[in-house]
Amino acid sequence: MKIVIANDHGAVELKFKLIDWLSAQGHEVVNLGVDAEDRVDYPDQAGLAVREFEKGGYDFGIVCCGTGIGISIAANKYKGIRCALIHDSYTALMAKEHNNANFVAFGGRVEYAEPVEHILDVFMKADFQGGRHATRVAKLDELC
Ligand code: RB5
Repeated sequence: MKIVIANDHGAVELKFKLIDWLSAQGHEVVNLGVDAEDRVDYPDQAGLAVREFEKGGYDFGIVCCGTGIGISIAANKYKGIRCALIHDSYTALMAKEHNNANFVAFGGRVEYAEPVEHILDVFMKADFQGGRHATRVAKLDELC
């Protein structure tokens, strides 16, 4: 898969952890930073990731900030972006099966009960179920 990733200073370590794992699995990751803990604003980082994703050719995007909250809110301001703030296997599965999320968000300062790599793996291996969920997702995309 081809994945775009961006983060703020609250998730530098987590971002590299995800990139290392994705690369080891043979995926292509485009890292838009930041790679050091100098302060940046998460809406700007979300915008970078979304604008890159919109160029096409990406399977999905990942955005990370301290909590994952601010950067997911920002990503969801863009038309066509369905960014899911996932925090375990169940929400990862539902994010794909029901919401057909094209972005996921994580928090670098969050303590997850499961390894983030596993949470991401579940999301990546899941399939959108379509049907009634497709109707709902289409309504989502009409909202902005
Ligand atoms: C930055 O300090 C922090 O507010 C940001 O990373 C994020 O947690 C916002 O939602």
